[in-house]
Amino acid sequence: MANRMWGGRFGGGPGAIMEEINASIDFDKALWRQDIAGSKAHAAMLEKQGIITAKDAKAIAQGLDKVAGEIEAGSFKFSRALEDIHMNVESRLAELIGPAAGRLHTARSRNDQVALDMKLWVRDTIDTLDEALCDLQRALAEKALDEAATVMPGFTHLQSAQPVTFGHHLLAYAEMLGRDRGRFADARKRLNESPLGAAALAGTSFPIDREMTAKALGFDRPTANSLDSVADRDFILETLAAAAICAVHLSRFAEEIVIWTSAQFGFVRLSDAFSTGSSIMPQKRNPDAAELVRGKAGRIIGALTGTLVMLKALPMAYGKDMQEDKESTFDALWNLSLCITAMAGMVRDMRPDPARMKHAAGAGHATATDLADWLVRYLGLPFREAHRVTGRIVSLAERKGVSLEALPLTKMQSVEKRITADVFSVLSVERSVQSRKSLGGTAPSEVRKQARRWLKRLGASRASP
Ligand code: ARG
Repeated sequence: MANRMWGGRFGGGPGAIMEEINASIDFDKALWRQDIAGSKAHAAMLEKQGIITAKDAKAIAQGLDKVAGEIEAGSFKFSRALEDIHMNVESRLAELIGPAAGRLHTARSRNDQVALDMKLWVRDTIDTLDEALCDLQRALAEKALDEAATVMPGFTHLQSAQPVTFGHHLLAYAEMLGRDRGRFADARKRLNESPLGAAALAGTSFPIDREMTAKALGFDRPTANSLDSVADRDFILETLAAAAICAVHLSRFAEEIVIWTSAQFGFVRLSDAFSTGSSIMPQKRNPDAAELVRGKAGRIIGALTGTLVMLKALPMAYGKDMQEDKESTFDALWNLSLCITAMAGMVRDMRPDPARMKHAAGAGHATATDLADWLVRYLGLPFREAHRVTGRIVSLAERKGVSLEALPLTKMQSVEKRITADVFSVLSVERSVQSRKSLGGTAPSEVRKQARRWLKRLGASRASP
């Protein structure tokens, strides 16, 4: 009798439940290109080594191309009874070419096959992510060049700290993404060894040539240990770790966009293309895309955590648990790709409001450090003493309800009599940012230099002045 709790869904009893939990075809069909590429390389090697005949090898290669064509065209019938992509492809190959199809799986197992497919898929995906990240960096560097002199408040603790430029702020993200690209490239480099030929776990007695398949599939070399080859999912962990860090970067940026586009800040405006309205409040312009980028960081981090936990107690070599690596990996990397593209769209779309940004940059006595630095430079005060003097001047300004710039000289002199009118030359937010010319500093001249350096590195047309 079917189980009373879920009997409706699993009308067929235990067999149906087994199929429901076991079948991976609904998600691992995403691996079809990699699966077919791996099989073609394997068949060509079997032929060269004299393990299968040239005739069978040809039939297999042509049959696999045909299967690929059917999947591409959407006419392929995926079957859950055939469990996964490997058996779906092989079974259709048998329908197309007959018994020769049965020779393809010589000296191979689904264990090395699935490790291979996942490596190829992750490698391809790293390449597309890198292109998308590069484009986002380009968008940031271009915008930074346009906004190199646009003054905004720089925050620490989300309290006005010192004025910075909007271009400088955007380039901070270009740096983060540069490190993300480095982490993906590093993961790609380490994953690039072919597991094909490890077979189930122990290698094979057939005289295979693992160097040949490794080379044909673009790997640097074959893996060295057959057990490790089928048990290893480090390449997924490393890629998801890089993805999680990248998602956190994008989420922090998204959070800033949410803050900047609020009516209270009003630093930046997104066009209708990246805003949505409210069904009840006509005045609303919600930065939904930014909120979704922020939200999706959760599932990307979750994919890393889930895969780590799935692997942590697995004895060598393969365990079916490992089939659970797929949905979250696909989901995480597809969503990361979407987030990167959406961010590039938002960066190109956003229009800053320089007047509001400048006004906010001057609020909270943000040029107090410039005053302290002036006291050090021109009056020779030790910085700690300058800090104390400045603190007293700030509190005078606060009591009068004016900015530092608007505080009369005589008031400043009541705290430190040697202060001259020259001090006003450093108290405006523009002067403040212009003065920060140290390497990597916020001065417009420095920001322009950094933006051009990025554009040159990224191969963009606006690299030269
Ligand atoms: N669908 C399986 C997976 O994703 C393929 C490997 C199956 N191997 C096995 N011995 N049952 O892991």
